[in-house]
Amino acid sequence: MYKVLFVCLGNICRSPLAAALFEHRVLNSNLKVTFEIDSAGILNYHAGKPADERVLQLLRERNIPINHVARRIQVEDFDYYDYIFAMDEENYESINKFAPLKNYRAKVLHFRKFDPYNQGSFTVPDPYYGSINDFQLVFNICDDVVDNLINKFKLGEPLT
Ligand code: 4NP
Repeated sequence: MYKVLFVCLGNICRSPLAAALFEHRVLNSNLKVTFEIDSAGILNYHAGKPADERVLQLLRERNIPINHVARRIQVEDFDYYDYIFAMDEENYESINKFAPLKNYRAKVLHFRKFDPYNQGSFTVPDPYYGSINDFQLVFNICDDVVDNLINKFKLGEPLT
């Protein structure tokens, strides 16, 4: 069993989308390993809210379920989760600053490091103040990364 946590700034756009896509792919893949999947935010501002309506719309159009209540990352998450994926460079810095112990930092990975088309950028752009097209771009990035991550888990390849 692997426990994976996706982390963005508000926990209403990028990380809940990544978690929903990951969960969906796990359920539709022939994986021998099981997962516990969640997402969290750096900010507490949206805690208790569902995902952004634009995320819900894109998932609804594809019949991909989501069951999300926003929450802030907490100290206990560092011990509990095996992998903590940061959705952008700033999130990565914030998570590492918040990590209570230095050895937890090995668990913190750039989500987009696993994007075959990343062109050197480890940032999934923040779509919050953008249009549905910006959300579609984020969806496509998350889809590519999740696909690649699932393949790595299938092959038993280490995530580094
Ligand atoms: P997310 O997007 O980090 O992908 O959930 C954001 C949501 C809300 C805010 C920023 C980013 N905000 O500033 O309220």
